[in-house]
Amino acid sequence: MREPIVIANWKMNGSTEANRVWVEKFLQLRGDLECRTAVCAPFVYLPQLVSLLKGSGVAVGAETVSSRKNGAFTGEVSADMLADIGVTLSIVGHSERRTLWKETDEDVAEQAALLIEAGIAPVVCVGETLEERESGRTEEVVLRQLRAVLARVPAARLGAVAYEPVWAIGTGRTATPEAAQAVHAALRAELRASDAAAADKLPLLYGGSVKPANAHELFSCPDIDGGLIGGAALRAEDFHCVCSAARAD
Ligand code: PGA
Repeated sequence: MREPIVIANWKMNGSTEANRVWVEKFLQLRGDLECRTAVCAPFVYLPQLVSLLKGSGVAVGAETVSSRKNGAFTGEVSADMLADIGVTLSIVGHSERRTLWKETDEDVAEQAALLIEAGIAPVVCVGETLEERESGRTEEVVLRQLRAVLARVPAARLGAVAYEPVWAIGTGRTATPEAAQAVHAALRAELRASDAAAADKLPLLYGGSVKPANAHELFSCPDIDGGLIGGAALRAEDFHCVCSAARAD
């Protein structure tokens, strides 16, 4: 049985005051959620979140990490630094990083390897563009992205894999549960081929315009074990609603 996990991805949003209010509200609402939860935030707010969420069971994650270990890389933040301040997971390969910052499959694999070495669980994002979907290349693209990581690190060491169709991120367009499930099943099969036991345990998350109104339907699919939530994670109330749709089966 896989315990579902729902992860907030705040992207470049937040302030010390807004974060404090969000955490207070979410911890108040949290009650008896049946899923694990995590908040991924900009680097500068991670120490604040580690401190506010200490002992709460809500994990704190980064949104990306350097693909270099340490040294003369101005502006970069390393996996070891994240571990040093108590961060336990990190997103890698988000499509905004792949497209806007030109991160490659190899960069993402290297980031995952450095995180694992530092004791941090990578949440690996994969996803196709609209053009790739329309030309029937969805599986080819997401499997290529996943294989690049699996060539570098064992599946058993990943925290999660998140399928995020690029055309669904921040657009209000969501993959239908059937379309998302089909991609998740392909990802699971690929993981199984590399490590069957790990594949059965690894949470596969869906991301891309998940909101309270569609979370239940998506999370009910057999291979969707939770979500990576952007826009709907900016309000603690909405994020809580999305989290309550994730049920342990
Ligand atoms: P969204 O973002 O929920 O706003 O579509 C998801 C993500 O980019 O992780």
